[in-house]
Amino acid sequence: MTNQLPNGVTRRTFDGSERLATRGTPVYGEPTDGDWRVWDAGRSKLGAMLENDLDLGLSGGETVLYLGAASGTTVSHVADFAGPTYAVEFAPRPVRDLVGVAAGRENLIPLLKDARKPETYGHVVEANVDAIVQDVATQGQARVAVENRRFLGDDGRLLAAIKARSEDVTREPEAVFEDALDDLREAYEILDTGRLEPYHDDHLGVVARPR
Ligand SMILES: C[S@@+](CC[C@H](N)C(=O)[O-])C[C@H]1O[C@@H](n2cnc3c(N)ncnc32)[C@H](O)[C@@H]1O
Repeated sequence: MTNQLPNGVTRRTFDGSERLATRGTPVYGEPTDGDWRVWDAGRSKLGAMLENDLDLGLSGGETVLYLGAASGTTVSHVADFAGPTYAVEFAPRPVRDLVGVAAGRENLIPLLKDARKPETYGHVVEANVDAIVQDVATQGQARVAVENRRFLGDDGRLLAAIKARSEDVTREPEAVFEDALDDLREAYEILDTGRLEPYHDDHLGVVARPR
């Protein structure tokens, strides 16, 4: 069975093939059809999680804390279907682009912050967010998720992409993923996992809820 898409996300035909799409101002040169714009799963781990049918448990309108926003490719789609969306990124250069993306999206709040230091943005992010979306692609990915658990409501969801090569380029990805899942279990119950091929090599998508 195919899992339901969040409200505000649809499948639509673009140039003869069915693609994910959200409604909003284009951001990265993606194809558009009226108000709809392609959500390119090849450029988005969360998009790949949807394409690969992980059950994200999102219905649309959620409050989201997004960790590793970069220039805003994926978080722009999230802000198209979600409620208040806090976008954390620690590299100043992409944050400049992210600020531009947020200019047309009232619910998108860019934060130039380090996701390993949640205490530095705890005063800005509202309590009990519905979802944490994480794509930091850096060593210690599970630790980042555990440290940010404090923002998540008890019924909330962690939707994380774990990049094996960011942890250890020499180890088998499956071994890296097992360790990351073990680390996540300190704060989360794992609900679903799935590899993100063919969109992203050696990445694991993880859906979890707070323990
Ligand atoms: C793979 S890219 C994210 C792509 C983005 N999620 C998207 O789909 O549009 C990973 C991003 O995480 C950021 N990042 C890595 N570690 C971080 C940290 N500790 N705090 C905040 N951002 C971090 C990097 O600077 C990079 O921009």
